[in-house]
Amino acid sequence: MSDHFDVVIIGAGAAGLMCAAVAGQRGQRVVLLDHASRLAEKIRISGGGRCNFTNSGATWQQFLSANPAFCRSALSAYTPEDFLALVRSHGIAWHEKHKGQLFCDDSSEQIIDMLVAECEKGGVKRRMQVTVSAIGQENGRFTVQTQAGKVSADNLVIATGGMAIPQLGATDFGLKTARQFGLKIIEPRPALVPLTFDPQSWRPFAELSGLAVPVRLETGEGKRRGVFDEDLLFTHRGLSGPGILQISSYWEPDTPIRIDLLPGRRLAQELVQRKKGSRQSLGHVLSEIWPRRLAENWLHDRGMPAAQRLADTADKPLMQLADSAQPWTLTPSGTVGYKKAEVMRGGVDTRELDQKSMQARKVPGLYFIGEVVDVTGWLGGYNFQWAWASAVACGRAL
Ligand code: FDA
Repeated sequence: MSDHFDVVIIGAGAAGLMCAAVAGQRGQRVVLLDHASRLAEKIRISGGGRCNFTNSGATWQQFLSANPAFCRSALSAYTPEDFLALVRSHGIAWHEKHKGQLFCDDSSEQIIDMLVAECEKGGVKRRMQVTVSAIGQENGRFTVQTQAGKVSADNLVIATGGMAIPQLGATDFGLKTARQFGLKIIEPRPALVPLTFDPQSWRPFAELSGLAVPVRLETGEGKRRGVFDEDLLFTHRGLSGPGILQISSYWEPDTPIRIDLLPGRRLAQELVQRKKGSRQSLGHVLSEIWPRRLAENWLHDRGMPAAQRLADTADKPLMQLADSAQPWTLTPSGTVGYKKAEVMRGGVDTRELDQKSMQARKVPGLYFIGEVVDVTGWLGGYNFQWAWASAVACGRAL
């Protein structure tokens, strides 16, 4: 194989397929290369197999980046409504689940089929199980060396995603390519990921594994502050659940997270008010406020007998009990890592890219789109919306 194209796109995932379709339909000769045997594995497994393909409320404010305003242009030029119009035009049934999260009624395979059909409309060539061994530039053209020969193109689009879930073929290829061309990288880290704690200090909470509680979570300060009202889930090693995944993207190592275990209510006040004339035990009262396992654990951890009557408990220990839960302040020891993370945060520094086209400022013809770029969305369809929007911005510029 030795051929020339207008555009070679490496990575046939969400962003790569979308970009190929747009560029192909604009008359560009496009080839899409991927080392995996199956297309778009992350779309396939996303949203529990139903793909949370966008969020109807997506704006640039639900994205993290060292350069937060960068994603604004692409996101406003291709909106959730635009993607929904495409979904509708393919007759895919969908529904809204929670906080603007849109899912397929049937299967995420429908989104893959839709993107493949759009690529076919644009005459895009696809080559799977292709291992890229080297990228270079010869006479102003990009060359991509693979085990099956060389491909050359006037434009090279890197859409190889982030490093989350390496078992599905995720690699640091995009970051290596950026470095090869002298582009800066914002340190990559797992994000939307469960948090872990030192096993010794976590032991008292490990027995709560499986328990989910609605909470308010907070971490960071100033512009790096994240606050979410969502469920958290206790696990053997630490904390998970949607609230923790959200906060993990804002969390910096060696800093605390703050968890309000009774959001919107004042536990201290409620306990003191309920004392008058109460014949109930502390355990009973707290179990009406929290799940029983959490109530018993919290009392035990503070050395307060669950059988002790509320009325017989002085205000001070009640206040201390409440203060320990509002907020519960704790410092994670780390995350469970890329193996279980939903995305990578960090990536190609957006100050290296043009916000309208995703083209590298220093290297004309080289583009980065999707998760490999330092733009990370919240949980809830935002990351796909970034993949679509950055891909369309690039596809329209090619
Ligand atoms: P993506 O990962 O989709 O594609 C990259 C492609 O590049 C892959 O096909 C890969 O094989 C290929 N590639 C990598 N290295 C290569 C190399 N060296 N050579 C050749 N090819 C290479 N988001 C959301 O908005 N809603 C959701 O419901 C979910 N659900 C979800 C579940 C799970 C379990 C995960 C892990 C992630 C999600 N996400 C999500 C996140 C979402 O899947 C992710 O942000 C997008 O797929 C990113 O799109 P990209 O095209 O950038 O990368």
